[in-house]
Amino acid sequence: MRHLMSPLDFTTDELDRLLDLANDIENNPQKYAKACEGKKLATAFYEPSTRTRLSFEAAMINLGGSVLGFSSADSSSAAKGESVADTIRILSCYADICAMRHPKEGAPLVASIHSQIPVINAGDGGHQHPTQTLTDLLTIRSLKGRLDNMTIGLCGDLKFGRTVHSLISSLVRYPGIRFKLISPEELRLPDYVRIDVIEKSGAPYEEMDKLEDAIGDLDILYMTRVQRERFFNEEDYIRLKDYYVLTREKMSLAPKDMLVLHPLPRVNEISVDVDDDERAVYFKQAQYGVYVRMALILTLLELA
Ligand code: NCD
Repeated sequence: MRHLMSPLDFTTDELDRLLDLANDIENNPQKYAKACEGKKLATAFYEPSTRTRLSFEAAMINLGGSVLGFSSADSSSAAKGESVADTIRILSCYADICAMRHPKEGAPLVASIHSQIPVINAGDGGHQHPTQTLTDLLTIRSLKGRLDNMTIGLCGDLKFGRTVHSLISSLVRYPGIRFKLISPEELRLPDYVRIDVIEKSGAPYEEMDKLEDAIGDLDILYMTRVQRERFFNEEDYIRLKDYYVLTREKMSLAPKDMLVLHPLPRVNEISVDVDDDERAVYFKQAQYGVYVRMALILTLLELA
């Protein structure tokens, strides 16, 4: 039985196959409409979510399966003190596969150890968010035609942003990847990613404070939200929350073929008038999230 805890759980060849499957699903949805008939997906979400939970549910429904689950810790027995280990033992009796989001780093890993069904990490604290990375990789590969030889700018909360940590760990496996890490001093990428992942891979990177200094050289600009829920105090959040705002004016400095991605939700970091720019692909990215989660469910249930 196979779980998904980190994007590195798949080799790059396996990732290629998964992304190929997602593209086939996109082009031939009817072919997969009954692929999961009789199967159930449990969504165990101990933290808020719109896209991740609902795209998982849409994915299973598109495959002809059913869904059950809870969308907050308060509405599950976690509120009574039940452990993640016990909860997953129970979900194993009710479902065939489980997507779990939890505010504590490593909670889905603990669940996977006690589970009889495949567990997918749908975001664990500030640590990893592998299915967002699959979504990001599918978006980039589908719209750029490649995952190698690119300059990627990651902008915003690089400290707490789990989508950033997972995406970087995945991209360093492709040749010719360069990073521009754009953040305020206090929200820089943690050393366990900067040193242990980027430096170890040999991928060139630069850390900078100003978006304007990087935007002219980018193939991809990956914007992120300041992660309010992971701050220790509200004053720091208020000071940093509007540090970056991508506007039309800044977009005029960017290459014609640069793509803007954002895992969403957006707060203020992308001005709404950028949405009409054809380089803004964050809503398309959310649609790719459904195809890739369909491909992932099929792969982990060994139905692909
Ligand atoms: C991200 C997350 O939960 O980490 N959202 C998502 O799943 N698309 C990003 C965020 O919350 O900022």
